[in-house]
Amino acid sequence: MITEAPEAALREAVLEEALTGLTSTPKTLSPWLFYDERGSQLFEAITALPEYYLTRTERAIFAKYGPSLPSRQGSPVTIAELGAGSASKTGILLQHFADQQGGVLYQPIDISPTALDEAAASISEKVPGVIVESQVANYITDGYSITRLERHRVLALYIGSSIGNFSSADAVGILRNLRDHLEAGDSLLLGVDLAPGKHKPVEILIAAYDDDAGVTAAFNKNVLVRLNRELGANFNVDGFAHSARWNAAASRVEMHLESLAAQTVTIGPERISFREGETIHTENSHKFTEASILALLEGSGFRLDRLLHDDQQRFAVVLADAV
Ligand code: AVJ
Repeated sequence: MITEAPEAALREAVLEEALTGLTSTPKTLSPWLFYDERGSQLFEAITALPEYYLTRTERAIFAKYGPSLPSRQGSPVTIAELGAGSASKTGILLQHFADQQGGVLYQPIDISPTALDEAAASISEKVPGVIVESQVANYITDGYSITRLERHRVLALYIGSSIGNFSSADAVGILRNLRDHLEAGDSLLLGVDLAPGKHKPVEILIAAYDDDAGVTAAFNKNVLVRLNRELGANFNVDGFAHSARWNAAASRVEMHLESLAAQTVTIGPERISFREGETIHTENSHKFTEASILALLEGSGFRLDRLLHDDQQRFAVVLADAV
């Protein structure tokens, strides 16, 4: 059997995604394409922007409620994390569990081996008492496994508003699949961004996706840089403008790349024409209400235990039980 080198398989996937998305109406590109090396750096930079409240708000919720989590769980837990990345926010939670139950097994699952290596290195260094068992897997398309130690419950983490990228049907699919890896009585800790409301005007939301320093614009446009480099496409990157829009009906922030003129781009055998003002829809970030959180949990086999949020009700950490 001839097995493709991983880089070749990745290039193939990028090509297929680009051709499918850019020959559709309206034109789309999937957000996973953002995360090449440069894109991952830009996303890290986004998480530190003053306008991007999500990361620091979630971290503050962990800092406030994290210490009481282990005792709430009752029996000792082993922790698994979907889309762990470099696990920069997970350390504080792991520390509490390691301290209170005398060590903890941590199982990060991520598509990126380099991110997992970073996660393992930083967690082992910073959090004594944690054993890291990493798994390289795309939790959407591949199988994965969760180890359960004897007489332990599993606490599954899916944080950082990662679920926001998906339609509600796909989000239910991801959580239902996760639920199938768990037993009744195991728990889910889910980080979701909240819809605009009394304390959260739409402008706050838009600014988080269209910062003054232009980091999010660079992140969005980097997908075109990537297609030029990896597929030999000829996008004029300056011929597209970053745009962040609130879609109230769908309760999501959308990112688009708007063509500033009529233009044609070549990717392999395909010629793709843009009208002036036509966009490539590159990302959805869904924003939740209590009702939509309950519907998501109910649809995927979980029951709400606690809904934790910051004082300004910008972000929520959902604690739920597998039923
Ligand atoms: C990584 C999907 C949580 O939707 O807020 C940040 C990605 N896009 N700025 C988000 C993102 C633009 C981010 N998630």
